Amino acid sequence: MELYDGLLSRRSIRKYNPEKTLTKDEILDLIRAASFAPSAHNKQPWHFLVIEDKEVLRSLRSVQPWTSFAKDAALAIIVCADTEETFHREKEGWNYAQIDGALAAQNLLLACHAKGLGACFCGAAPMPMVVDNLRAKFNMPETMLPIAIIPIGYPEETPKTPEDRLNMAKIHWESF
Ligand SMILES: Cc1cc2nc3c(=O)[nH]c(=O)nc-3n(C[C@H](O)[C@H](O)[C@H](O)COP(=O)(O)O)c2cc1C
Repeated sequence: MELYDGLLSRRSIRKYNPEKTLTKDEILDLIRAASFAPSAHNKQPWHFLVIEDKEVLRSLRSVQPWTSFAKDAALAIIVCADTEETFHREKEGWNYAQIDGALAAQNLLLACHAKGLGACFCGAAPMPMVVDNLRAKFNMPETMLPIAIIPIGYPEETPKTPEDRLNMAKIHWESF
C-alpha cells in the first residue's frame, strides 16, 4: 500500500472476526512500526501492553466505557508513555508523554491498516479516571501514562470513505 493512499484510507474499525488471531511475530511487526515514531529528543518513552486474553478484552469496557467492541478483537495494545523517560522539565511541570505516545499510537494504527488489519484508537490520558483504572488493573507504575487502548483484529466492516477532510477554513497562510 502506498503510504499516502494509506493515510487517506485508514478508518477506525470496530468490528472484527472473533475467530482470527495474530502470531507473536505479526504483533511484534506492528510494535516495531510504532517504535519508529518520532519522539521528543528521541527518548522513545513508549511501552506497549499486549492483551490477548479474551476475558480481559471483554473487561476493558469496565475501565474505559467506549471499548465494548474490544471483546471480538484478536488483541488490544495499550500504548503507554513513561513520564520520566520522556523529555520533560519537572520544575516547569511539563512533559511530552502524551505527544510521544500518541505518535506511536498513530504509527500502530497505520501499520495495522498496511497489514490488512482493523484497529481503533480508544482514548485513555488525559481522562484521570481511565488512567487510574488502567494503572490499577494492569499494575502500571505511577510514572506510566496510558495513552490509548487499541483493539486490533481482522476487519468485519468497511466504513464509508468520508468526504474530503481538507478544509480550507482551517488553513491559515502566514498568520491567523
Ligand atoms: C483521542 C481519541 C480518543 C478516541 N476514543 C475513542 C473511543 O474511546 N472509542 C471509540 O470507539 N473511538 C475512539 N476514537 C476514534 C474516533 O472516534 C475516530 O478516530 C473518529 O471518529 C474519526 O474516524 P476515523 O478514525 O475512521 O477517521 C478516539 C480517537 C481519538 C483521536
